[in-house]
Amino acid sequence: MPSTTPWWRSAVIYQVYVRSFADSNGDGVGDIAGIRSRLPYLESLGVDALWINPWYKSPMADGGYDVADFRAVDPLFGTLADAEQLIADAHEHGIRVIPDIVPNHTSDQHAWFQQALAAGPGSPERERYIFRPGRGPDGVDPPNNWVSCFGGPAWTRLPDGDWYLHLYAPEQPDLNWQHPEVHTEFESILRFWFSRGVDGFRIDVAHGLAKDPELPDLPLLPGPTDGQSRPFAQHPHWDRDEVHDIYRTWRKIADEFDGERAFVAEAWADTPERLAAYVRPGGLHTAFNFDFLMASWDAEDLRTVIDDSLAMLIGVGAPATWVLSNHDVMRHTSRYARKNVARWVPNQRYQPEGDIDLELGTRRARAAALLMLALPGGAYIYQGDELGLPEVEDLPEADLQDPIWERSGHTDRGRDGCRVPIPWSGQSAPFGFSPADASAEPWLPQPANWSERSVEAQTGDETSMLELYRTALQLRREHSALGDGTLAWVEAPAGVLTFRRDPGFLCVVNLSDEPYRLPEHTATLLASGPITDGLLDPDHAIWLQV
Ligand code: NOJ
Repeated sequence: MPSTTPWWRSAVIYQVYVRSFADSNGDGVGDIAGIRSRLPYLESLGVDALWINPWYKSPMADGGYDVADFRAVDPLFGTLADAEQLIADAHEHGIRVIPDIVPNHTSDQHAWFQQALAAGPGSPERERYIFRPGRGPDGVDPPNNWVSCFGGPAWTRLPDGDWYLHLYAPEQPDLNWQHPEVHTEFESILRFWFSRGVDGFRIDVAHGLAKDPELPDLPLLPGPTDGQSRPFAQHPHWDRDEVHDIYRTWRKIADEFDGERAFVAEAWADTPERLAAYVRPGGLHTAFNFDFLMASWDAEDLRTVIDDSLAMLIGVGAPATWVLSNHDVMRHTSRYARKNVARWVPNQRYQPEGDIDLELGTRRARAAALLMLALPGGAYIYQGDELGLPEVEDLPEADLQDPIWERSGHTDRGRDGCRVPIPWSGQSAPFGFSPADASAEPWLPQPANWSERSVEAQTGDETSMLELYRTALQLRREHSALGDGTLAWVEAPAGVLTFRRDPGFLCVVNLSDEPYRLPEHTATLLASGPITDGLLDPDHAIWLQV
């Protein structure tokens, strides 16, 4: 690939969920020193960058997405010096670092919110957040009918009578992005970290910052009243056009720094068109493409998602991003482990039905990895994807920590099942996640049979998920057809996806129930499973040189 192509147009970015990656001090929680100690692993895996979930000072009401101080590292994870050292060490290993930034809300322990509580109703301190009197007699009803993404109303009432808005947990009050100080504060935070060497940011809830100043009720809609559906031009708080003004300023700040700093937006948009609006020229660099993650295991569905995403993004000159799993969704090995994989309904928890067949899920996860890594643009790997980790669906209720579990009145187990600490080595828990003499057990219990899936067990085993990823990433670096660019579909029977990338690369994925005879080729570069008599079995994928 020509060196003039910015790195973020084709990067493979590995998501590190800090508390579950590697625990250096034996307290059962992953930390920054743990990440540093595993940089050789990440380099040998072949990733270009790390996206690191929030490491900021936080009471951890939502796994660190409730930030009390954006310029400090939480002692659970280390110190600011540790973060600086990690950034420097990662760069030594040729790996870039992209932390999360959380601009939609702060922790209720943030100095601003504490000042707002102390200053009382009507004070200027309250204007940095969204405080309102209630409705009804004595203001006993919330100011409007908005709902929290974690369940229940999006408003909490204080003893002084005022209500404040929180689109997530009550410990995560929403900031008021109509307040100039909110803008200047975040611009300063960006510069604080850019000048410490970070290569970009993943923007949390990038689609949520702007709210309709009138705070109108959501129209009552037929069907599930999750408050998320958008049959109107502008939702009162999701994906409003005004958010783009913020990101145009942020882009200019990134451009002030050398070394191609880049943003990736966590933006849930209704259509590929609306997603593409985040990455127009002068806006953000990239945005997660969740349509790929939400697709069912179905050739037509996937092809439509791929075509629509590429058309929209290429139309605005931005690269696509592809993602199969992250810390908020059921791991794809388990999603694909049901015969009929349902299409994900946005903003609803994925509740798969039917018997789980992890061998099937693993076969499909291997094929999906080859599909994803062959598509034009960048790709995300969530820690443990490369080990084929399944969702831990049977965590004891007493161990669940995601606020969704409580907020849903114990009807939704939340996201802990994809956040279980990853296995590195050994025959029993903590599987090398914590040192052997650790004083505490991992913060979520690891399944007893995870020794088979550890990095140690898979290293050097050519049939393992880990070696599949390693080889795929190496080929991706070496093959001039892969990474940024375009694709051309090649005719294939229903259920088979075949596309060409120039020069000389063909990817074939068989999602049908029948073996498929491979097209002409000069060499097999990589296959997700054994190939016999030139046939690609169902739920397999292959990379061919043509
Ligand atoms: C999206 C993050 O990925 C999720 O983990 C978090 O709970 C919400 N944003 C709120 O910050």
